[in-house]
Amino acid sequence: MTEKELLPCHVAVIMDGNGRWAQKNKVSRLAGHNAGMLAMKEIIKRADVLGIKYLTVYAFSTENWKRSKEEVGGIFGLLVKYVASELEELDRNNVKVRILGDYTKIPKTAAASIEKALKTTQDNDGLQFSIALNYGSRQEIVRAVKKICQKAEAGEISEDEITEELVAGALYTGEENGNIPDPDLVIRTSGEERISNFLLWQCAYSELAFTDSLWPDFTPDEFEEMIWQYTKRNRRFGGR
Ligand code: IPE
Ligand code: IPE
Ligand code: MG
Repeated sequence: MTEKELLPCHVAVIMDGNGRWAQKNKVSRLAGHNAGMLAMKEIIKRADVLGIKYLTVYAFSTENWKRSKEEVGGIFGLLVKYVASELEELDRNNVKVRILGDYTKIPKTAAASIEKALKTTQDNDGLQFSIALNYGSRQEIVRAVKKICQKAEAGEISEDEITEELVAGALYTGEENGNIPDPDLVIRTSGEERISNFLLWQCAYSELAFTDSLWPDFTPDEFEEMIWQYTKRNRRFGGR
């Protein structure tokens, strides 16, 4: 197999450590999130250059609402700024943007710029870039169960038809987003080694990789190195 064929098809990233980066650099947390956006921009470019088909980033969790109003508002404000400055280039590079999570519950201006990004890039077939935004895996599973219940109550499906495929199809990564394959590799920065409610169903057999780098310090070269390390791993999926 060539190195290219061994590449992960889907890489998911838990972008963590913006706050600690801000503290380390004696700037505001918001400045940390801004630095995080700049890091994300570079990772998207490198993923594209490497030929990775799917890149998913965890940008805001359903639990992140616990943070101060200022921080939450600031994060969504940065998102609007990012879309405004980057959408044209993303589109030019044939990147397709998707959202995993309930973005109808985020501030209106942010939801509007998300709508614009989705619409502008809807026909692109290059890098499939998903942003997990107001995303929580348990919430996603509950939502899927409800959808399936509704179908059962309407008599559209029977118990026998409830399969892994059906459940997977009802998740954010399912039918509504063109059936995104499960992540092959999940990277988390900042030295924390936990999943924090990210893609619990989809990560069943993902390879996990951790780095102490804080997200704004995470470079495309380190990202690429983690991808090459991944290609040396032996995935067994329960077989021998
Ligand atoms: C990740 O950085 C970004 C979000 C969760 C929105 P953090 O803000 O969690 O940074 P730390 O973990 O406090 O350093
Ligand atoms: C996970 O980071 C969520 C995102 C990166 C968006 P957190 O910083 O919220 O996770 P915990 O609280 O450390 O588990
Ligand atoms: Mg954190």
